[in-house]
Amino acid sequence: MTAESEISVRNLHRAYEVGGAQVHALRGIDLEIVRGQFVAIVGVSGSGKSTLMHLMGGLDTPTDGCVEVCGHDLGSMNAKQRAVFRRQIVGFVFQSFYLVPHLTAEGNLRLALTFQGTYGDRRQRMTREALERVGLADRMQHRPGQLSAGEQQRVAVARAIVHRPRVLLADEPTGNLDHATANRLLELLCEIQAETNMTIVMVTHDEELVSGYCHRKIRMRDGCILESAEMT
Ligand SMILES: Nc1ncnc2c1ncn2[C@@H]1O[C@H](COP(=O)(O)OP(=O)(O)O)[C@@H](O)[C@H]1O
Ligand SMILES: [Mg+2]
Repeated sequence: MTAESEISVRNLHRAYEVGGAQVHALRGIDLEIVRGQFVAIVGVSGSGKSTLMHLMGGLDTPTDGCVEVCGHDLGSMNAKQRAVFRRQIVGFVFQSFYLVPHLTAEGNLRLALTFQGTYGDRRQRMTREALERVGLADRMQHRPGQLSAGEQQRVAVARAIVHRPRVLLADEPTGNLDHATANRLLELLCEIQAETNMTIVMVTHDEELVSGYCHRKIRMRDGCILESAEMT
């Protein structure tokens, strides 16, 4: 792990046992991501993008190899330590927003902060700030069903950043959004990255979308990294 490296992945393998056969989702990934980069991981369906993202976020454990995030070696952690890591260090955004349907936007963020151990006035202030940041201060009392898909995903982004994580992991965050809404979401992620110097890793199969927004594009296929290119 180099000094400025925020995420370091070494010889990462993940195999699944399916009906007695081995499916090799990752076949020895090596990757360094520096602090404050906005990285896109692209590749066709089945190339191992989600598997890599889950391993970087401590949602899954590898068959072999290691992952370090912000100086934490995930392989040396037990399940409880990994849960703390997930709550403190990273934020997640998924394609299907996974908001709690009966809670308001505010309630969804408050719940996340409660899990994370933040209460009282501080919780209220952080909730408001995150919803203001995604442009939804006037929708705090609305439930997911009263919001458009783009607004729901912005609530999900607010929830992912409300505890001010160092790393944001987003798996196909624009997968359920139309083109214009997807572009606006990427603009928002870029702004948040620039303001906070958060490291963002975003998985997408929509390559066109990433140019103009991301600093670096990593292409995967069949569990390997085919290429990594800095974008200008
Ligand atoms: N839980 C699982 N059990 C078995 N095979 C899986 C599982 N998750 C992923 N895979 C397989 O691993 C490979 C990579 O999947 P995934 O990481 O989801 O790719 P992507 O996100 O690029 O579409 C695929 O062949 C997929 O079928
Ligand atoms: Mg996937």
